[in-house]
Amino acid sequence: MRITDSGNQDMTRRNISFFLFIILCLLFFSCEKKAAETKGIILGFSQIGAESAWRNCNTRSVQEAAAEAGIQLLFFNAEQKQENQIKAIRSFIAYQVDVIAFVPIVTDGWENVLEEAKEAGIPVLVCDREINIQDESLYAGYLGTNMLVQGRSSAEFLIKKYINPDTGKFFTRRNQPVRIVELRGTEGSSPAIMRARGFREALAEYPEFEIIYSESGDFLRSKGYELMCNILEDNIVFDVLYSHNDGMTLGAIEAMKERGIKTDEDIVIVSIDAEQAAINALIRGDINCVVECNPKQGPEIIRLSQLLAKGETIPRMIFMIEEVFTEWDDVLNIGTRGY
Ligand code: AHR
Repeated sequence: MRITDSGNQDMTRRNISFFLFIILCLLFFSCEKKAAETKGIILGFSQIGAESAWRNCNTRSVQEAAAEAGIQLLFFNAEQKQENQIKAIRSFIAYQVDVIAFVPIVTDGWENVLEEAKEAGIPVLVCDREINIQDESLYAGYLGTNMLVQGRSSAEFLIKKYINPDTGKFFTRRNQPVRIVELRGTEGSSPAIMRARGFREALAEYPEFEIIYSESGDFLRSKGYELMCNILEDNIVFDVLYSHNDGMTLGAIEAMKERGIKTDEDIVIVSIDAEQAAINALIRGDINCVVECNPKQGPEIIRLSQLLAKGETIPRMIFMIEEVFTEWDDVLNIGTRGY
């Protein structure tokens, strides 16, 4: 009896090992198959340009993630022109790529080309900037950052900054409303629209703040510099600079410093992006608050493209994780940004 029992036990053990082996083989081959499936993907990516260090990091992130995943990337730089982006998307359709991803320079005007992509059966992923479109079935989903929240966070910093912690009342230097100068991003782009809207929404209940000047600097450092030169030449007196990106902020700071303004004492500055140069300015005291806009979207763009290429659906909106860095934080320990 004992001999037969141990014989049965041996058989059972061998059977279990065999089944485990088969399961492992199946798992291994299905993983290999998936990797092989996604390796053959062709992704057409239309980038808007190279207007900022943020944008260059965004481009690098996509290129590196595609190379790592073994995905063929057709990359087009639109040099800040919507018509170039539309041409690029049409060429992706003609090339019959598996997925199209694009960063829309502005929110409007995408209907026709996206209908063409839909007719060709090519899924479209909208990246970084949002679009404004009636028929939402014309794109599969959006991956980017929450720009409305970025605008709100900028205002929330100011509210905290100007509230007297002892009395709960606002204090300003002249006992007058806090005068804000706003440098907006590219006209008609979702970051410019949302960052302006979120900022105003958060300040709506606070008459202590007044936006006395608002102009588009196109997300360019050179225009930030130029606009600030004009403001100072026109003797516009202000307390706060709210700028939609670090490039414009750094240009404006340069203009102020050239005219002897002590940016670390005289002006409160809130900037968006969190480039290394802006974090360095926060450490120096030239900037008071930096709201992060995370450009490292490449790995997520590639993951979503792989899902779309397999015919899967993706969430409508995915936002990157972001932080707010202020003068009250341990600024020396923010770490290096990589852009
Ligand atoms: O769309 C994101 C914005 O575009 C970034 O804030 C800005 O720096 C970039 O050029």
